[in-house]
Amino acid sequence: MKITVLAGDGIGPEVCDVTVQVLAAIAESFGFPISFEKQFIGGAAIKEKNSPFPDETRRSCLESDAVLLGAVGAPEFDDLLPANRPEMGLLELRTALGGYANLRPSKAFPELIDSSPLRQEIFDGTDLLIVRELLGGIYFGEPRGFENDNQGAFNTLRYSVREIERVARIAFESARMRRCRVTSVDKANVLESSRLWRDVVTSVGKEYTDIELEHLYVDACAMHLVTDPRQFDVILTGNLFGDILSDEAAVLTGSLGMLASATVGGKVDLYEPVHGSAPNIAGKNIANPLGAIASAAMLLRHTAKNEKAAGAIEKAILDILADGYRTVDLVDRNSPSISTTNMGEMIIERATENANIAHAFHAV
Ligand code: IPM
Ligand code: MN
Repeated sequence: MKITVLAGDGIGPEVCDVTVQVLAAIAESFGFPISFEKQFIGGAAIKEKNSPFPDETRRSCLESDAVLLGAVGAPEFDDLLPANRPEMGLLELRTALGGYANLRPSKAFPELIDSSPLRQEIFDGTDLLIVRELLGGIYFGEPRGFENDNQGAFNTLRYSVREIERVARIAFESARMRRCRVTSVDKANVLESSRLWRDVVTSVGKEYTDIELEHLYVDACAMHLVTDPRQFDVILTGNLFGDILSDEAAVLTGSLGMLASATVGGKVDLYEPVHGSAPNIAGKNIANPLGAIASAAMLLRHTAKNEKAAGAIEKAILDILADGYRTVDLVDRNSPSISTTNMGEMIIERATENANIAHAFHAV
């Protein structure tokens, strides 16, 4: 397996370094070959190569089996227009790879229940998956731009039947492997594109008679996420609503730093933690690498089709948390915490132990 690693900006390089080490150790334990090629993206790429998504990066990604991304975005580019920013590198990457379905699971970790901003009785047992459309909607709609000498600006929210159908199928298929419920989220009381969204999802839903489908307006969904998040299994939504709701769902778990994501459906699958570049804590070796490591587990499951290797990593994450090890984002001020690299070492130790147990079990 060849993996292109795009560490990007801020804490991206720190969490990616640790994750590459975890993947290399797991590959060795399970005896499959793996290689990594590092390339630039985002602000780092603007500085090194004068483009947020250089040609070498595109080539390497398209030649690999999967892409692992850290984070993009840096405050020094804050005054630039959207078209020139580091974030454009990520949008170009998504377009180049063609993955249209972004899967963002949010699950209550029993060990971290105290870190959730929600009361335990509301959040305990939450286990949801946001399926966000990633290549359409207002992020990419044309026309867009400034007008009247910057006295106005506009964007276009457009969806085609085909774009809605394909992402809806991913949501229904995902629900089949979970609790068989899909909540489709839109703003069909106001937006034509949402009216189409609702109609198309309903008609795709007819092919999935085993899946229960409900529709919710996005404002109501945002509210239900904090009042009763357990009601959700799979949430299917468009690009912008998915961006907003996935941050909301993620932070309920106690830390954005814990969560993984996968983008599928294109030529090459893309794996990235949900968190951003967190420039305020970059370079301090304190960032939580578990979101990136959990993304690597998703890579092993979806791209490498190696459920045991994915499970070994996911179990290691739970074990380490159960033993009380925390990065600084997961503890109260003044409580002890461990570094990014320490967390990586502990995960490697546990995950390879779990791998050996898996082998021993196989031998019996
Ligand atoms: C995300 C991020 C990106 C997005 C930005 C960095 C372009 O917020 O992955 O959620 O809006 O999609
Ligand atoms: Mn976002």
